[in-house]
Amino acid sequence: MGGYVPFTKVTTILFRMILRIWAYSGLVLVFCFLVYYLYGTLFAVLLLFFAVTGILYQVQDNLLYNSELPPHSRVYVPIPSTFNLPYESVMTKTSDGIQIHMYFIYQPKDKQKNAPTIIFFHGNAGNIGHRLQNCVGLYHNLHCNILLVEYRGYGLSEGVPSEDGLYLDAKASIDYLFTRSDINHSEIIIFGRSLGGAVAIDLATREEYMGKVMCLIVENTFTSIPDMAKVLLGWRILQYFPLFFYKNKFISYQKVKYLRLPSLFISGMDDSLVPPRMMQELHNRCDSIRKQLLQIPAGTHNETWQLQGYYRSMAVFLQSCRLDNSVHVSFDIKNEKTTSNSIWSDVQTI
Ligand SMILES: *[C@@H]1O[C@H](CO)[C@@H](O)[C@H](O)[C@H]1NC(C)=O
Ligand SMILES: *[C@@H]1O[C@H](CO)[C@@H](O)[C@H](O)[C@H]1NC(C)=O
Repeated sequence: MGGYVPFTKVTTILFRMILRIWAYSGLVLVFCFLVYYLYGTLFAVLLLFFAVTGILYQVQDNLLYNSELPPHSRVYVPIPSTFNLPYESVMTKTSDGIQIHMYFIYQPKDKQKNAPTIIFFHGNAGNIGHRLQNCVGLYHNLHCNILLVEYRGYGLSEGVPSEDGLYLDAKASIDYLFTRSDINHSEIIIFGRSLGGAVAIDLATREEYMGKVMCLIVENTFTSIPDMAKVLLGWRILQYFPLFFYKNKFISYQKVKYLRLPSLFISGMDDSLVPPRMMQELHNRCDSIRKQLLQIPAGTHNETWQLQGYYRSMAVFLQSCRLDNSVHVSFDIKNEKTTSNSIWSDVQTI
């Protein structure tokens, strides 16, 4: 009996202590939950954001530079002689030491020096061999020499593609042309389609080539890669992403403001990849006194050059640049005619 009372006393004290600790534990638990909900979720969301944006940042290159499409594009590059075009296969070194591959397609030797030379910057897929059919049209309709440039990481060129890398490739290609004594250095035309348009615009706005290039022609190109991401992904959240999130930017809409050379913007109105309004915007923002927007109805992203009037319009534009060069007349498209002594007088209306 004597031990009973102390026992209940002890249990009561123990019980109270446990109750107190439990109360505190409850508080700690509530605190844990609060931390988890407030900071844990925040932390998890931050981690997720870093992971997702990190992955997106890395895969951007794979999405943009499709040098493996169609398959074997890195090993099999069709050659111009298949299309009866005389050519030289050229390797040139960029300023950062990358060997890039090009085709120099030339007019017959007696005409080569009278002819303009087009530097051709292609789109984001395949290699230069996939543009040869288009070159046949340029060659026979515009009577021009063509330098087809294969970006780093494409076709037989070394290296891996990147925005700055492509700009260096473009510089190396035009520098190469200036080393050739068998072409007319006063008639170099920069041409680019799609991604190549962004490369062409960058090259044409570089100070060291100002006054050295006859004109710029771009076709179905975009205002910028962030703008294209919004169009392709349709995520409204993208508009809140800062520019540094984009590994490749190609901000053409800012660069066109610095264009001073005659510029032709060729826009296929049925382009389902690059919205034609982007070509309109580039044309509007271009500050060159001689600029023209050529809108081709039914022109698709890849096939605008196959439509009627394409080469003819190019020839008219080139002729106006030539006239401007020699007599400094102001450019008025309505009064332009390719004169009979022009090398572009026999352009087919294909
Ligand atoms: C080179 O181009 C310029 C400018 O169009 C022209 O005046 C000149 O005659 C051309 N030279 C040759 C050899 O065709
Ligand atoms: C254009 O051609 C490339 C391959 O050269 C292809 O990947 C792309 O899907 C084509 N785009 C359209 C809009 O047809």
